[in-house]
Amino acid sequence: MKFKSTPIFTCEGLSLDLGGREVLRDIGLELHPGEVLGIIGPNGAGKTSLLEILSGRYRPKTGKVTFEGQDITSLPLFERARRGIGRTYQTPLVPEDLTVGETFKAVRQAFRPWLTRFDAEYGANLVHFRTPHDKPNSGLKTFERRKLLLSCLLMRQPKVLLMDEPAAGLINAEIDEIDQILRMLSKEMNMAVLIVEHRIELLESIADRVIVMDAGEIIARGELEEIIDSPAVRAAYFEAH
Ligand SMILES: Nc1ncnc2c1ncn2[C@@H]1O[C@H](COP(=O)(O)OP(=O)(O)OP(=O)(O)O)[C@@H](O)[C@H]1O
Ligand SMILES: [Mg+2]
Repeated sequence: MKFKSTPIFTCEGLSLDLGGREVLRDIGLELHPGEVLGIIGPNGAGKTSLLEILSGRYRPKTGKVTFEGQDITSLPLFERARRGIGRTYQTPLVPEDLTVGETFKAVRQAFRPWLTRFDAEYGANLVHFRTPHDKPNSGLKTFERRKLLLSCLLMRQPKVLLMDEPAAGLINAEIDEIDQILRMLSKEMNMAVLIVEHRIELLESIADRVIVMDAGEIIARGELEEIIDSPAVRAAYFEAH
């Protein structure tokens, strides 16, 4: 085990029903400061549903979520964000009728204490986001959208980042840059980063550990090289495509 520190974020025994069907069953994981944990699995495995529970949008049917040793299972998304749990979405939705600068201002003033322009600059610098503030969000490309959203999250210096397919829609050079940023956030700033991804190869260079999900359950966990050839993973993952 590489990370001996106390986990900062955990869940155990999580289950979830959606539309009368069980989409998650008995999910448990631990996330340590400075660690990048990858969650992989084929389409429909339940990865996004799990993030919905971890970030506070869905309430699980059973199980619990903890942050810094406290039970936060019933805390809403907003309160989790306030405490330092940041989340990004599979599709990078930005307010189309605002400019970049207006977006930063809205985020700075989303709740008290309001943040300063320097905080916004700090977030933008961490991800090398250099798009001019007068540019309308509607004209931003996918990569800029992802960076804008990440800048907004980083302004408040979160301790945990929950990311749903941060590389979706990006080209290779952009994915490399996102990897570098995430490595810096985890290894230099000690953030705990959970990345959901359905393409295994995208986690190779970045994840310290991975969890493999299929049909709502965890079917393997460990270092990527250890689990990639296991029969259960091959059957569920590769043969599904
Ligand atoms: N709101 C909903 N109502 C009913 N079923 C849902 C709902 N959202 C998701 N599901 C179902 O739950 C299962 C898990 O979906 P989820 O989106 O969590 O998978 P995923 O692993 O994120 O997939 P992908 O790789 O496509 O993003 C799927 O079978 C999906 O059809
Ligand atoms: Mg998903």
